[in-house]
Amino acid sequence: MAFPPQFLDELRTRVPVGSVVGRRVKLTRKGREQQGLCPFHNEKTPSFTVNEDKGFYHCFGCGAHGDAIGFEMRIGHLSFTEAVERLAGEAGLDVPKATPEERVREQRRASLHDALEAACAFFETQLRSASGRDGFAYLKGRGLTDETIARFRLGWAPDSREALRTALMSKECPESLLAEAGLLKKPDGGGAAFDYFRGRVMFPITDRRGRVVAFGARTLGDGQPKYLNSPETPLFHKGGTLYGLAHAREAARERNTVVVVEGYMDVIALHQAGFAFAVAPLGTAVTEQQIEELWRLAPEPILCLDGDNAGQRAMARALDRAFPILKPGLSLRFAVLPAPEDPDSLIKAKGPAAMTAVLDAAQPLVEVAWRLAVEGRPLDTPERRAALEKELMEKVHAIADETVKWQYVRTLKDKLWQAFRPQRPAAPVGRPGGGATWGKRRPPPGQTALRGMDGRIAGVGSPTLLRPPYEMQERVMLGLLLANPGLFDLAHEDLGRCLFSNESLDNLRRGILKHLGATRGLDSEGLAAHLRTDGFSSMLDTLLDASERRMRSVRGYDGIGEAKALWEDVFHHYTRKELLADVSEAYSRLARDGSQAAWARFEAVKRHEQAAEGRNED
Ligand code: UTP
Ligand code: MN
Repeated sequence: MAFPPQFLDELRTRVPVGSVVGRRVKLTRKGREQQGLCPFHNEKTPSFTVNEDKGFYHCFGCGAHGDAIGFEMRIGHLSFTEAVERLAGEAGLDVPKATPEERVREQRRASLHDALEAACAFFETQLRSASGRDGFAYLKGRGLTDETIARFRLGWAPDSREALRTALMSKECPESLLAEAGLLKKPDGGGAAFDYFRGRVMFPITDRRGRVVAFGARTLGDGQPKYLNSPETPLFHKGGTLYGLAHAREAARERNTVVVVEGYMDVIALHQAGFAFAVAPLGTAVTEQQIEELWRLAPEPILCLDGDNAGQRAMARALDRAFPILKPGLSLRFAVLPAPEDPDSLIKAKGPAAMTAVLDAAQPLVEVAWRLAVEGRPLDTPERRAALEKELMEKVHAIADETVKWQYVRTLKDKLWQAFRPQRPAAPVGRPGGGATWGKRRPPPGQTALRGMDGRIAGVGSPTLLRPPYEMQERVMLGLLLANPGLFDLAHEDLGRCLFSNESLDNLRRGILKHLGATRGLDSEGLAAHLRTDGFSSMLDTLLDASERRMRSVRGYDGIGEAKALWEDVFHHYTRKELLADVSEAYSRLARDGSQAAWARFEAVKRHEQAAEGRNED
């Protein structure tokens, strides 16, 4: 449901961000801000701040940033709507139901929920009656305990055209409602509607909160289809639902991991074997919407795929789905089962330890993308290597997030460079793990032309070509701050908010913020000494040297005043680019899913961008 903006404003005023955060984080006041240990990453010294005036929290360590609603969403793994409802409930605000039509629709949805819940209870009862004897025996035969059967609310649909219809149909639950819920089917030629599910074991499918929205139904024999699923209904959209999600949420959050498997029985078998963080899509490839849902539970969901060709194809499809929506910190990993097992059969044959081994061997998305691109492909001529490079770069350009995109460009160019090194003997293109791995090789000593300032290999060709458009600005900002720590007061908030595109520069950014935040009044030498102990020596030399030269070339240099002007200037250009990229990312996401969360994100980013515009004009 869309919330009117006035309501959201009212909510934000009534629920101060400090009190929402304060329930989870011990905060101490420091000037206008409050400080504490960040709940979103591990830290020993506080870099997490709450600014009540602005209504925002912000972490200088990990970049986490948002308002009270955003905090509640992230800490509680809630959707936008859920977070709003919870906070409104606590503040005693009525969540508005916008229009009469919307109210009617809500009521209809509630009736559908009731009908599906009644059907679920009916199927459960049937499973334990004489009519469900075969179904019950089948489930026990597949190794499920009574407790598991009850927890997943498995049931039995009698082999009859009217068992459910007779049991459920009433004034409150008319035929039309049962048909809309996907429980009855109207014959094409007209006539009375009949039971949709007949003579099958029933697997209720729930939404995130555990409300039944659909069923998957397995035949006991070899009949087709093996699994019959509910049709799409107002409550059930296949591509937006994950089987087992409500059961998996708790464990996924606790273990900070979530695993996606193929089938209903796999989820249940995993759960019973102690892997409670498993979910499954509903017989289709994983969708963008499902990936976003998974990211609410854990930053790097593991897709667990079959070892056969179909599994490889599913992997390639998942990559293509994931690329456009990757975000800093959010990715996928891939685990491959030994053919011909699925998780259910693997656990039965080899026990939970075998499953743990499969999950532990999960590979990051970038490794899988690389492997799929090079596997079984001769790369012995410039043209063939160019084709590979072109193909990889085209894939990478699907990534909407600029920061992630540039990290991919860097990583893959690095891999290409190492793969094509002239010293390399005509090596077989093979799976990683078979002998020396390309990813581990380093260029021979002395070959530094292609190294970046940070000593890492920058890639093929000139390093400057690879540099993101704003990496120079990042270097200038750090250099300025290193030479003029007095800029900290002016710069720390801005600098804390952005995430640098280059990993090493970003580490240095955090290091600087950490030391200047901890020891106010630290001078350039003192700061450098701290940073050298942290291992930043060579970067410091380069940046300080460049910064010196830059400052000397500025006419009328009056130390801190000039440094401030330069900072404002560079930062202005830097954030304009960043923000515009953010806005376009938020916009394309909005165009894709149009959800409340997407709207909220778009509005927030847009507001931010306009605020930055205004700040720089006065
Ligand atoms: P599988 O055919 O791999 O079956 O389908 P499974 O999960 O191993 O099932 P069991 O162990 O034989 O009981 C994987 C998933 O694809 C969907 C279901 O979600 C199933 O769990 N599917 C499969 C269907 O929706 N319809 C079908 O006819 C078959
Ligand atoms: Mn199976």
